[in-house]
This record gives sequence, C-alpha cells and structure tokens, in this order.
Amino acid sequence: MSKTIIISNRLPLQISIEDNNLEVTPSVGGLATGLKSFHRDGDSIWIGWTGLTEEEIPESLAQDVKKRALEEACVSVNLTAEEIEGFYYGFSNRTIWPLFHYFMEYTEAELSFWEIYKKVNQKYANEVLKHYQEGDQIWVHDYQLLLVPNMIREKAPEAIIGFFNHIPFPSYEVFRTLPWREEVLEGVLGADLIGFHTYDYERHFLSSVSRILRLQVDFNEVTLPNRIVKVDSFPMGIDYEKFEQAALNHFKNTSEEQSDLQNRLDHHLKTTPEAKLILSIDRLDYTKGIANRIRAFEYFLDRNPEYVEKVRLVMLAVPSRSNVPQYQRLKREIDELVGRINGKFSTVNWTPIWYFYRSMPFENLIDLYTSCDVALLTPIRDGMNLVAKEFIATRTYHTGVLILSEMAGASHEMNEAILINPNNFEQISSALKQALEMPKEEQIQRNKMLQKRLKRYSVEKWANDFIKALKNTKDNRNDSQSI
Ligand code: ADP
Ligand code: G6P
Repeated sequence: MSKTIIISNRLPLQISIEDNNLEVTPSVGGLATGLKSFHRDGDSIWIGWTGLTEEEIPESLAQDVKKRALEEACVSVNLTAEEIEGFYYGFSNRTIWPLFHYFMEYTEAELSFWEIYKKVNQKYANEVLKHYQEGDQIWVHDYQLLLVPNMIREKAPEAIIGFFNHIPFPSYEVFRTLPWREEVLEGVLGADLIGFHTYDYERHFLSSVSRILRLQVDFNEVTLPNRIVKVDSFPMGIDYEKFEQAALNHFKNTSEEQSDLQNRLDHHLKTTPEAKLILSIDRLDYTKGIANRIRAFEYFLDRNPEYVEKVRLVMLAVPSRSNVPQYQRLKREIDELVGRINGKFSTVNWTPIWYFYRSMPFENLIDLYTSCDVALLTPIRDGMNLVAKEFIATRTYHTGVLILSEMAGASHEMNEAILINPNNFEQISSALKQALEMPKEEQIQRNKMLQKRLKRYSVEKWANDFIKALKNTKDNRNDSQSI
C-alpha cells in the first residue's frame, strides 16, 4: 500500500535531554501544529529534525531518540552543530526567511551558508530515498528544503513529489536579488505540484520562474522539457474541532466570565466590570510586528486615557531562533518597550502589559484564547498566521473581536475581522477602540461567519485537497504518456 512521506526541517515533536532522560514537547509553529493532525489521522511517515544536534545526543541515548520519534511515525535526521549553524541559523533563517518576508536589510548573502544548505538538503533527500517505495507520495515542506524536490527527482525520476511553502513568496523584484535564485527555483521545480497559501504568492513565484528561468508559464502550469509542473494556492486551515472542543472542555470547569486567567487577575481588574483583556500570541520574530504593536498600544493609551486601568495587553512571545542576532536584538527591544510603557502608565492598582516570554502548554494557550476579549495580531508579513484562526475557533460563545494585519495570509479569508495596516499606529489605535466598544450582537454576527468558513476549510481539507491534486498530477502524467 502506498504511503505519504512528509518531510520538513522540524518534526512535530521536539526532544531534549534532561538528567539523561528524554523530554518530549510539541513543536511550535504553524507547519508543525497544522500538519500534525493530517499525520495523526493518515498513513504517513514524517522525516525531520528533533531539535537536538548529533553532539548533544550521548551514544547511550541515540537509539532511544530514534525509537521515541518512531513511536509517532517520525524518522529523525541527524544534523551536526556545524550543519545547524550554517543550514538552519544561517541560510534558512538569515538569508531566505528575511528575504521572503521583505526584510531585505536583514538578508545575508553568505556563500558558506549556501554551501552547507545544499549539503543538508541532500542529506534530507537521501533520507527520503531510503524510505521511498514506488507509488508513495512525497510531500516536502517549507523554505528550509527548497532544493529537496529536485534532489529526489534526480534519483527517482518517476516519483510523485509535492512541495508546500508555508511562508510568503516575495515579488520578483525582491526574489531576483538572491545570488542563487536560479538554483533555488530549479530545486523547487523538481516537484509535480507546488503549493502556496495565497494566490499572490503563487503569482510571484510564477513570475520569477518565467523571468529568471525563461520557462513557459501558462496560467498555473510551468512547462519543463520533460514534464509539466502545477502551481496552485491552498490556504492552510486549522484542526477546528480540536480547538473548539478544547474551549468547550475548558468552559466545563469555568464560565465565560471566570476563566483561569481572569480568576488570577489582580483585584482591581477583577472588580472592574468594563475591564477588557487584549491578547497577542506569536513566536518572538521580527516579522510578527510585536514592537509596532506595543508602540500602537502606547499610542492608544495616550489618546484614550479613559482606558487607563480598564484594559490590559496580555502578550505571549514564544522564544524562537535565539542564536540569530536580529532575534536577540528584538528580544532586547521588546523587554525595553514593555518596561518603558509599564513604567509610564502603571498605577498602584494596574499594569498595562502582561508579558510572557516562554512556551506554554496547550491548556494555557486555550485559557488565553478563551479569556481575552480582543486578539491583536499585527504581523508586518506572515505567510498565513494560524493563531488568528485558532482564536476564532475557541470563541464558542461567539463573542470576541479579532484585529488582524492585512499583511497576514489569513486576512484574505477573514474579512469579518478588523483588518489593519501594521505600520499605521493611528489605524491600530482606532481599531482597538472599535473592538473594545463593539456591540455583542455585532461580534457574534462576525464570528459566526468566520467560524463557519474556518470549520469548512479545516486543515484536514487543506491536506486532502493538496494530496488529491498531487495524485492528479500523476494521472495527468500517465495520460500524456499514453497519447
Ligand atoms: P508561525 O508559523 O510563524 O509561528 P502561526 O501563527 O501560523 O505562526 O503558527 C503558530 C502556531 O504555534 C500556532 O498553531 C500556535 O497554536 C502554536 N503555538 C504558539 N504558541 C505556542 C506554545 N506556547 N506552545 C505550543 N504551540 C504554540
Ligand atoms: C514557521 C515556519 C516553519 C517553522 C516555524 C517555527 O511556521 O514556516 O517552517 O518550523 O516557523 O520555526 P523554527 O525555526 O523554530 O522551526
């Protein structure tokens, strides 16, 4: 029987070693949380990295790491500290990530990063080939593995290969600045089907293919000498039922008004009936617009002093890629901003920002989603932003307001949210006022429409649509061969 081989840089489980024991936690990030449900329900194996370098795994535990991954149908790829430095922290996160999110000033074109990126992509491709059997579908994920599709194709020309990019694909004018632009495009074009979250990313990719490689592009097909590659958009959804159910379970023990978080509030906010909580959750990443968000919150309090002692920004920032200098700088900037604004506005009764810099277990995430009144998500650029969708899925009372950046892929499907330009403080400030004052009936009306759509376009549908389209490429290939 054929299977799907999923391959991504990071596995959905992260392993660490404490006192010679393995500790396993779920990976953070849209790719892992989204794909996990598809992997759990289907017949697939998942190849990727556990988060530990080869040097960090004592010989005595090497087999245990492999075994633990296998329990979840995962195959761990061994990467050395040097490989992680050049491939992950280097080319993936200091070259491609900033470039694809339009942070050109952060983009480093470093030859040594590129060399090691190629080597590690080959390592991943080899691991796939070890597990591949004719008839399997291979599904490669994201910007860390752009060369893998063609590397697999070279060894297994008949293979059915799909590639999905979880981050934006930038416009041609930005992409063309990459020194290795031809190799990157050729790498991805090893796939039969290439998927993006939005139609814009798809068009940007096709425009780069036609202008840089001078290949024939007809509508959404690229013609290669011996094959046709399909390119399409598949907006990723969430495991709606999981979030809805978790919220319902959460409310079994609490009520709409008295969640865990609200129970733990200081006396002042707890006893102020009109008090409201504003939530933000992201990995600590410069693309997420966290610093802008805090500044916009300051702007809001400056202009709306009647909200002093009545609102709180609850901000969860999950540590991410902390070896990359831009992330370290951002961490310092946010610490400073939070300190300055809390210093500026705090009263004996009240602190305007609650800031958590850590990962949290799923139940706490649900507590945050369900107990806040407004979600304020302001990425400067974001491939999709699943947090926006998760927030809506947990609003089982249909109340709550989502303020979302129009630069997030998710904004294309979430018109009933209040959409803002993350660089416009004035607009964010009025969006906050509008959200805090929005009548309940209007909240319910907006959320019901969002929920209906998110329920229908779940992650399961996303994965099934992609795999179905991938299998169709095989049928097309067979058809054209028989003509
Ligand atoms: P990105 O993929 O850029 O990190 P997304 O918003 O698309 O951004 O996805 C973030 C994912 O990480 C969401 O599915 C969210 O539930 C998950 N997440 C965020 N914080 C945590 C956490 N502390 N623990 C586990 N998962 C988290
Ligand atoms: C985004 C990327 C994923 C990545 C995740 C977390 O969602 O698209 O590929 O896994 O961020 O980042 P990390 O660098 O920790 O894997």
